[in-house]
Amino acid sequence: MKTLIRSADDASIEAAIHLLEQGEVVAFPTETVYGLGADALNENAVRRIFAAKDRPTDNPLIVHVAEPGDAEAYAADIPPVATTLIEHFWPGPLSLVLPKTSTIPDRTTGNLPTVVLRCPAHPVAHTLIKRFGRPIAAPSANRSGRVSPTTAAHVLTDLTGRIPLILDDGNIEYGLESTVVDCTEDTPLLLRPGSITLESLRSVIPNLSLPPTTAPPRSPGMKYRHYAPSTPVTLYRGDRRKTTAAIAAAVAQEPDVAVLWQSDRPLAARLVRQLPAEPTDAAPELFEALRAADAIPAARILVQGYSNSGIGAAIMNRLEKAASEIVDV
Ligand code: TXA
Ligand code: MG
Repeated sequence: MKTLIRSADDASIEAAIHLLEQGEVVAFPTETVYGLGADALNENAVRRIFAAKDRPTDNPLIVHVAEPGDAEAYAADIPPVATTLIEHFWPGPLSLVLPKTSTIPDRTTGNLPTVVLRCPAHPVAHTLIKRFGRPIAAPSANRSGRVSPTTAAHVLTDLTGRIPLILDDGNIEYGLESTVVDCTEDTPLLLRPGSITLESLRSVIPNLSLPPTTAPPRSPGMKYRHYAPSTPVTLYRGDRRKTTAAIAAAVAQEPDVAVLWQSDRPLAARLVRQLPAEPTDAAPELFEALRAADAIPAARILVQGYSNSGIGAAIMNRLEKAASEIVDV
């Protein structure tokens, strides 16, 4: 199969809808990362998402709706906490776990009785779902286990020859996958941190909790290795001054590395990329930087961590999953 990249104009969106109607998959931009979409209500179409990504079939998909009000058609119950979150954060980078209606095929949710719903704010995603007239199931458009794509070129690298069309709208806004909140229990749980931060969620639902770290993963996707470049990643955590010194010392010992850090100090490594010190500014560049570091031959990628507050918590969640080694200084 030849994979076309087309600028996401009206004609390309029409072409994408035509493919979706035929049960095909299409990659498209959202405000978080590029998604690989198919008709969420068509089992055979959904099957193609799993095949294109080599995704384990028990890892359920997020179902994207065009309007906040569309949640009612696919969630069997919308508890008050979900209503509050929808009012505050939809459309936007927030996904909610809710009990599903029978309209959603079991294949879409990996046989779970729940469905994750998201109403994206990106105009191309919105137009695509609205004009298609049905919800679109879409995981991130990367090969399973790899770093999520933040450009159409990333999607092409991972899925060339496996999907017919990529709608290109340049770089996306947030660069981290959506925040996931489980609304099916009495106490809402933050399953995946993202650009809608714990702090801003708690400002509207103060009882939001974090799942106990010892419990088995509640999100099937959490048990798989994720966000991982092929080159092993070492993550440095701690005070910025100390992690800067530790990375500089590590490069002096072993220069066959790529470094992603926040310092402007010169380093004799194979690749050195300065990322913004502010997590909000770093997030949109992070996955691109990891992919660039992975593309050069180097023995390791050394990454300087961020503080664990705000969007920093979401960045650290992704980096901890990508890392094969963590150095606390
Ligand atoms: O920003 C995003 O969320 C992007 C864009 C394309 O919308 N999508 C995305 O999908 O990141 P994916 O499949 O890469 O991540 C979805 C996560 C997975 O960890 C999956 O296991 C979890 O959500 N999930 C999906 N359905 C679930 C359910 N019913 N219960 C618990 N977790 C679920
Ligand atoms: Mg993913």
